[in-house]
Amino acid sequence: MTQKVKLPSPFKLVTYDTIRSTNEEAKRLAINGMEGDIIVWAKKQTLGVGRRGRKWVSQKGNLYFSILLRPDCSVSKAMQLGFVVSLSIAQVLDDVLPKIAKVNCKWPNDILVGNRKISGILLESRLTPLGEIDWLIIGVGLNVKNFPKDVEFPATSLIEEGAKKTISAEIILKLFSHHFLLTYEKWDKLGFETIRKTWLSRVAWLGEEITVQLEYETLKGEFKNLDKDGALIILHNGVDRRITAGDIFI
Ligand code: BTN
Repeated sequence: MTQKVKLPSPFKLVTYDTIRSTNEEAKRLAINGMEGDIIVWAKKQTLGVGRRGRKWVSQKGNLYFSILLRPDCSVSKAMQLGFVVSLSIAQVLDDVLPKIAKVNCKWPNDILVGNRKISGILLESRLTPLGEIDWLIIGVGLNVKNFPKDVEFPATSLIEEGAKKTISAEIILKLFSHHFLLTYEKWDKLGFETIRKTWLSRVAWLGEEITVQLEYETLKGEFKNLDKDGALIILHNGVDRRITAGDIFI
């Protein structure tokens, strides 16, 4: 274990060269009683996982980290933190990409540049027997130098999108923790509404016809809104449908 990057307080950083999965390690720390506000960062993962059990290709050069939080709030409120993180990533991309880059949030938590995926987020949580949140892990993968070519949804990286050649996972992690702290504080003080509005102002495909892949069905409809809890609202066969989990495509 090494520690080079210094993050703003209150985050404590745990760094690995190679690990199976930073989410898995954050989970191990949580189960062993570690306090929150930890970021587990690895230069490479050998068993990176994506949403819905997919594999997250994790070669050296990109950013892989997981934030361990113990938020003192309801489960539905804690889930809003996925939007806080995706917005913070979009803000980092604004800092490091040329002004012409089209950076969008994609429901629920992906980040796109010019309709290609650059970052994905995996949320995992455990509840106490009373149904309160025990821990929440938010895992982030962000393509800095390379990106997978043989994937269902087209991908890209910061270098591909015109970031300076000197960009690195370290720089992005520092920028992220700065933006995340500010956005988290805003969420904590002002609530989700302000985050929801900013996220919606930069979301992909609002008002367009989208395909939503659910576990057991696929729906088509107009992307109408994000509701007060972060659920997707689509107009399907003339009726509003509220979707809490799924993948969307155009
Ligand atoms: C997605 O499917 O879009 C989410 C991908 C999340 C990948 C990150 S990389 C760091 C953390 N560790 C993992 O094993 N997965 C997440």
